[in-house]
Amino acid sequence: MSTPILEARGLVKTFGHVVGLAGVDLELHAGEVLAIIGDNGAGKSTLIKCLSGAYTPDAGQILVEGKPVEFHRPDDARKAGIETVYQTLAVSPALDIASNLFLGREQRLPGVRGSVFRMLDKKGMRDRAKQQVEDLGISTLQSMTQAVENLSGGQRQAVAVARAAAFGSKVVILDEPTAALGVRESAQVLQLVRDLRDQGMPVILISHDMPQVFEVADRIQIQRLGRRAAVITPKTHTPQEAVAIMTGAMVVT
Ligand SMILES: Nc1ncnc2c1ncn2[C@@H]1O[C@H](COP(=O)(O)OP(=O)(O)OP(=O)(O)O)[C@@H](O)[C@H]1O
Ligand SMILES: [Mg+2]
Repeated sequence: MSTPILEARGLVKTFGHVVGLAGVDLELHAGEVLAIIGDNGAGKSTLIKCLSGAYTPDAGQILVEGKPVEFHRPDDARKAGIETVYQTLAVSPALDIASNLFLGREQRLPGVRGSVFRMLDKKGMRDRAKQQVEDLGISTLQSMTQAVENLSGGQRQAVAVARAAAFGSKVVILDEPTAALGVRESAQVLQLVRDLRDQGMPVILISHDMPQVFEVADRIQIQRLGRRAAVITPKTHTPQEAVAIMTGAMVVT
């Protein structure tokens, strides 16, 4: 097996007496969708927050392409190519699509207009945003100058995913991306996840939606009580078995 793009070894994270992660491993390989499932409080979000720099683990190691890294803030993870879309969407409703894609990394005009007068390269950003959205095969977004507040939930999620997948990122992590969406919009986001994977971008998908997980994931990591209970695939296990492992009714050794 090749070196994982992203790997965690023995991650521990406690909050006072509460154990969030009790020594969790994870491997994400090139071109795969890894789903993470587990009951409420199983440690899914805590795991993601450690991988995305929002939390610093108490113990354990994170490796990107085989090299140990230390993340102290989300920006550290982003610089290492790990982009996370949190369940509470980080889009700015008042801004248009292009501005959202470039939030925090705005392009300025060349020369003194950009360096001294801090003038933004709006057209350049619009063009790159359009290209990015096209490359991802997102057909639901039409004009880059559309304000995000006017978009549907699925379209907003598409903007957040497009942003995460842009700018040289190596890994995209999605925490419950369809939780607030309708059937049609969920299907669009799932298609986007597949498109990302097919373009070689590995995706970590946290979801409670078992049919969805079995439809889109290549491998499924099951978290239980702060530990990794099992890693299964949709080919080797049924959704019923996954739920049984999740709840402790079935133990995988
Ligand atoms: N900031 C925090 N302070 C204290 N305890 C926390 C904090 N974050 C998480 N925990 C605790 O750590 C454990 C794991 O929580 P986590 O949010 O990772 O679960 P989860 O698997 O994402 O659950 P859900 O499916 O409900 O989102 C829980 O017992 C939770 O109460
Ligand atoms: Mg959670």
